[in-house]
Amino acid sequence: MASLNDIRSTFLDYFARQDHAVVESSPLVPRNDPTLMFVNSGMVQFKNVFTGVEHRDYSRATTAQKCVRAGGKHNDLDNVGYTARHHTFFEMLGNFSFGDYFKSDAIPFAWELITKDFGIDASRLLTTVYHTDDEAFEIWRKVGVPEDRIIRIATDDNFWRMGPTGPCGPCTEIFYDHGDHIPGGPPGSPDEDGDRFIEIWNVVFMQNEQFEDGTMRPLEMQSIDTGMGLERIGALLQGHHDNYDTDLMRALIEASAHATSTDADGPQNIHHRVIADHLRSTSFLIADGVMPSNEGRGYVLRRIMRRAMRHAHQAGAKDPVMHRLVPELVRQMGDHYPELVRGKSVIEETLRGEEERFRSTLDRGLRLLEDEVGRLPEGGTLGGAAAFKLYDTYGFPLDLTQDALREKGMAVDVAGFDAEMAEQKARARAAWSGSGEQADAAIWFDLAEEHGSTEFLGYDTETAEGQVLALVRDGDAIDAAEAGETAAMVVNQTPFYGESGGQVGDTGTVRTDGGRGSITDTKRIGGVFLHMVTVDEGRIAPGQTAELVVDHARRSAIRANHSATHLLHEALRAALGDHVAQRGSLNAPDRLRFDFSHGHAMTRDQLAGIEAEVNAFIRQNSAVSTRIMAPDDARALGAQALFGEKYGDEVRVVSMGRSDGSGKGSDGATYSIELCGGTHVGRTGEIGAFVTLGDQASSAGVRRIEALTGQAAMDHLRAQDARVSELANLFKVQADEVSDRVRALMDERKALQSEIAQLRRDAAIGAGAEAIEINGMQAVLQVVSGVSGKDLGAMIDAQKQTLGSGIAVLIADTGAKPAVAAGVTKDLVDRVSAVDLVRAAVEALGGRGGGGRPEMAQGGGADIAQADAALAAVRGVIEGA
Ligand code: ALA
Repeated sequence: MASLNDIRSTFLDYFARQDHAVVESSPLVPRNDPTLMFVNSGMVQFKNVFTGVEHRDYSRATTAQKCVRAGGKHNDLDNVGYTARHHTFFEMLGNFSFGDYFKSDAIPFAWELITKDFGIDASRLLTTVYHTDDEAFEIWRKVGVPEDRIIRIATDDNFWRMGPTGPCGPCTEIFYDHGDHIPGGPPGSPDEDGDRFIEIWNVVFMQNEQFEDGTMRPLEMQSIDTGMGLERIGALLQGHHDNYDTDLMRALIEASAHATSTDADGPQNIHHRVIADHLRSTSFLIADGVMPSNEGRGYVLRRIMRRAMRHAHQAGAKDPVMHRLVPELVRQMGDHYPELVRGKSVIEETLRGEEERFRSTLDRGLRLLEDEVGRLPEGGTLGGAAAFKLYDTYGFPLDLTQDALREKGMAVDVAGFDAEMAEQKARARAAWSGSGEQADAAIWFDLAEEHGSTEFLGYDTETAEGQVLALVRDGDAIDAAEAGETAAMVVNQTPFYGESGGQVGDTGTVRTDGGRGSITDTKRIGGVFLHMVTVDEGRIAPGQTAELVVDHARRSAIRANHSATHLLHEALRAALGDHVAQRGSLNAPDRLRFDFSHGHAMTRDQLAGIEAEVNAFIRQNSAVSTRIMAPDDARALGAQALFGEKYGDEVRVVSMGRSDGSGKGSDGATYSIELCGGTHVGRTGEIGAFVTLGDQASSAGVRRIEALTGQAAMDHLRAQDARVSELANLFKVQADEVSDRVRALMDERKALQSEIAQLRRDAAIGAGAEAIEINGMQAVLQVVSGVSGKDLGAMIDAQKQTLGSGIAVLIADTGAKPAVAAGVTKDLVDRVSAVDLVRAAVEALGGRGGGGRPEMAQGGGADIAQADAALAAVRGVIEGA
């Protein structure tokens, strides 16, 4: 017998042989359709391909698409478990043509696969076509379906729409006749809702697009979209009438029976069916990033989880059950959906946490319900107040209460419940307006009330479609923002991170069906994200669909900085001690800042050690993991939480790095574990590099470290390097300049010195340098002061020069021993010798000796008081010549 896994492969293989690209299932949370809660059919991921907005490199595709229908248009939750073919989760097999083949190929493909590859007896099949679609009728006739088995249907049953807007078109459906032992009529007949004729395949001729204003326009290209539920075709091929009898569902039902120690087919069977179905939807939703919460998608998940948990409780389970079934689900479906394998521990943890918490109120809530029901007459209605109390105090979603009452043939006064809910909201609003918040904040409260919180998709994607819910300027809602104007834009879902927890808001672009804008910042007020948008072109208005694209490079840099902050925090604790606690942080694209409690400055070595440790964990390139758990579980893991911060039911726990055992913690232990709502790198290696800019005091007992990562860190190192060479260069230039300058100064000094000597000599001789005539010869005989003996030679030369022909004798009054010098011009040396003149003077001055040449001689005396006598002696020698 072919298993569901085999049947899925047969389908995909068939279309692969017909040149179809086998495309992976998209995640359950639609990225490209803000109006859709969950992906509910195979064509959702191709919506924009059908309308021509998006192009792929194939024009034929086939998929097995994960689908969840548990809210909105197809609310199947109430029936699930009680019927043969309702599921919250199912797989839709489909083949798609994007402007490639159309009806004349799509119909034969479907017929061949069903009757040949699947081997279904053609005589048991009948088909329907839209009442005006003669072409499809004719094609069916040609492939061999008798005319009386081709039924024309005039209703919307044969006109398929993905939702209120979007691509649509007439369709043809294939039905299987289970035989006349089962009640029910063929499609189009009054008792068509019976179980005899089961629709197994829907082939849509995608040729129109439905718009919000009610108009429908033809699409440029004609396309094909088909959908076949794997569970249905599986049941058929495995010879069953009930989808829950297929091999896969049966394995899950038996796992549930085993986990609750009950009989799979006994009175507890209904509970096992619910559990088997809900296990699939909850596990796949968690694997795709949805987390239980009190709003939006998270609340749908919570409702499904709690419904399953009540059934587990009814089946007699004393302990949490759901998480124990995950291994069986992974065994059954993990091969085709590896996200289940990857997400296994997150799925288990999330299910277990939710079940543990819910169990504490489930018992008490069920007792209250029993009491209330006991007071009601048979077939009575539970009052809205009681249902609301179950909701508000015991965490019973309304449909859980309805589900519990259904078993007793009772219902809930839903209008009464809604009235209680509205009253509670009014009270919350009154409390809010009295709380002294800024007046203009009231608008955000109203928006949150009206639309719920913004759903953040940015952990998994940087691009998504959202629906514009409101535009606000100066605290007032506005109808539109025109080109050049700015406003705060609220959308239902967004990939943009709103500033919080120290991480700055994202920037990027928005394109709607009316205009284009730049998002310059994103902030958060409570759960509402405000996109600060400047309209660049056209107009942006509420109701439009907006394609939101985050600035990727900037977000990547922010992510790196935020993850580096976690590593830094742990490195600081390891180096300085457990007193280090976060006091503030900033994670911007260009840098990070971390404030922490610590009494004094760090040493250079400490800082270098911390930097090295962070870089070691970056190089380790280990995966960063994110999990959701109860705050107590997170603390038990040792998660670093902000002191005094309030956390809700669930906290997000970000872990990174493996200890090598050299520092704190044992070998292989997780290095950093923090509660954090921010966006992080996938692996630590993406941080690239980490450089601190030093630490400084921030306030008393608080230090601040600023640091850079990635390219900014590299740029910083490079800039530092450049600065060092610049300084070295400057130093060298200055040294050269200094030595030139010193040399010039020395030259100048020398010049000045000789100038001074000259001036001194000139001054010494002064006006007294008058020659007298002795014995027919010109003679200068003088006592000079303020000069030294060394100066005398030059002075004698100067005198001889001036005289041209004559004799000069100078006695220097040096302040110590006198010096004498004499000079005779060449023409007179045969009459008088300078040596004789010096000797005569020296002798008179009480000295001894003296010598030189006839033209020039010098000597030294002892007593300057004898200077006149010495000059007289000199005169005597000249006179005697
Ligand atoms: N999109 C079509 C469906 O969901 C095939 O049935």
